[in-house]
Order: sequence, then C-alpha cells, then structure tokens
Amino acid sequence: ALPARLDHHTLERYEGVWLVLALIMVILLFGGVLASFVSGTYPSLTGESGHHITGVENGRLDPRNFAGTPFATPGVRRNADGTYEGFVVARAFQFEPAVLKVPAGQPIVLHVTSADVLHGFFIEGTNINTTAIPGQVSSFTTTFQRPGLLHVICNEYCGAGHHNMMTRLVVEV
Ligand code: CUA
Repeated sequence: ALPARLDHHTLERYEGVWLVLALIMVILLFGGVLASFVSGTYPSLTGESGHHITGVENGRLDPRNFAGTPFATPGVRRNADGTYEGFVVARAFQFEPAVLKVPAGQPIVLHVTSADVLHGFFIEGTNINTTAIPGQVSSFTTTFQRPGLLHVICNEYCGAGHHNMMTRLVVEV
C-alpha cells in the first residue's frame, strides 16, 4: 500500500516522470532503427552491393523481360578477372538453367530472380536458402567445397507444380 503522504499530486508527478521516460525510450528506439537504415547496417535484400549486373538497376529488373541482362541466358560464367558468377531464373515450375554447374573450391556469386511468382531457392544439405522474387535479384556468395551432386528445391509454395519444382547443381572439379 502507498504511504498516506503520497497524495494524488505526488502520483501525478511520478506519472509524468514515467511518461517522459517512456517517450525517451520510444524516441531512442526509432532513432536507432532509422540511423541503422541510413548508415546501411541493415542488409539490402535487393542485390549485393558491389556486384553490378548488366541491365539491372539497384537489384531491380523487369520480370517479364530479361533482355539486356544476364538472366536472358541463365547459367554460370567465369568473368575476365577469374571470378565466377551464376544467374538463375525461377519460373513455374522449373529453374533455369536446367543443370547448374559450379566449380569446386572457388567462390561464386549466385544471382537468383523469378520470372513470375515467389519461389524458393534452397540447396539441400547446405544453409543456402533464398527467395526468388519477381522484379528483384537475390545475390549471395558461396564456395562449394566438395565435388558432387546437390539438389535445388523450391521451398516457397508457388502453385500446382510446386512439389515438382527442383533442379540439379553439379559441383565439378
Ligand atoms: Cu516454385 Cu514452389
């Protein structure tokens, strides 16, 4: 129970103090979130910075027309500087290219997009799992250490053929 001397004026003062404290916390929280967005602490979901893709602006492209972008001819390529890049298109209900051939022991940047609806891009037996989003490019860098065959599975429900939507990834020596 409250001591008798805490009359209702004292309580109003306490209330005021807590109200101000709560406001300060809300401002700090939103300020922090805002500041991390501005400073780029939040990861970009629309393409990895530092990987410019021909015909793709800020990780965005026209899902109905890949002309002028590497997604027009999906597959893995070796760049002039020796780095590897792979371009994958997901569409109901398949992945392109039909077989993804990647080099073993070499870092590779994979770029994934969708030509229609949301699809998943999960490589079984790994922690690689991204979403193929129409109009956007999801990029990530990885290294496949051991040669062998892996399956890529669509793990985002995309329609009648979803359960059959998969492709092979061959890690070559
Ligand atoms: Cu594509 Cu599920």
